[in-house]
Amino acid sequence: MRKKLTISSIQKCKGERPLVMITAYDALFARLVSESADMILVGDSLNMSFAGAKDTLSTTLDQMIYHTNAVCAGASESFIVADMPFGTYMNKKEALKNSLKMFQETSADCVKIEGGKDKADIIKYLTSNGIAVCGHIGLLPQSVRGEGGYKVKGKTDDEAKQLIKDAKAVEKAGSFCMVIEGVKAEVAKEVAQAVSIPVIGIGAGKDVDGQVLVFSDMLGLFEEFTPKFVKKYLDGASLVRGAVASYADEVQKREFPSEIHTY
Ligand code: KIV
Repeated sequence: MRKKLTISSIQKCKGERPLVMITAYDALFARLVSESADMILVGDSLNMSFAGAKDTLSTTLDQMIYHTNAVCAGASESFIVADMPFGTYMNKKEALKNSLKMFQETSADCVKIEGGKDKADIIKYLTSNGIAVCGHIGLLPQSVRGEGGYKVKGKTDDEAKQLIKDAKAVEKAGSFCMVIEGVKAEVAKEVAQAVSIPVIGIGAGKDVDGQVLVFSDMLGLFEEFTPKFVKKYLDGASLVRGAVASYADEVQKREFPSEIHTY
């Protein structure tokens, strides 16, 4: 079994080796991914691949708590990051109330909140009240309706400068690491070099301090759409379909259950 990472051991990885983060939403997959991942993210992306919604915005805090508990049960020796859903950290008071609920009702090691400089005061308030925070800058899935789509960031000089400001503000506010999503690789590299905390990329190229992927994307289980940055390490959907078709076929032919599966 892998030794559970701590905030300081995660931070020490910067410059030493890339960090591996993967999402999980239940105990079964949490147990499976925990063998290779440094950190497990209970992402609000579960609203799409698990609950079938078109974006992450309708995820509730109670749903995140339910799934975080399932992941903690399956991977008790992993460092668990719990996403705070849309609308639960609109101001300092709400953010603290809802993050405390997450910390009191689960054993998540930190919460993740989306936003840069604009969220610095909230991050500072959380960290000064004992809540460890993973930041999330760049393309923010919770802003998809506000921005009218998923827009890659860092395409202009102004956007690149803003991302560096965001990263520095998130670090200064007390975040121990951050996710950077959907950012031009050369800009993500500059961002990672501009701060001393680990910057974990998704769709942000290879020159950052680690990578995160959504497990249902990288296992080829989520078929609705595949972003350019997703590498499918398994054709999960075909394997599942094939297995279920074989089962159905054997049931129809009365080949299952056979002698060895019968009491
Ligand atoms: O919800 C999620 O899975 C995430 C990743 C895309 C980083 O936030």
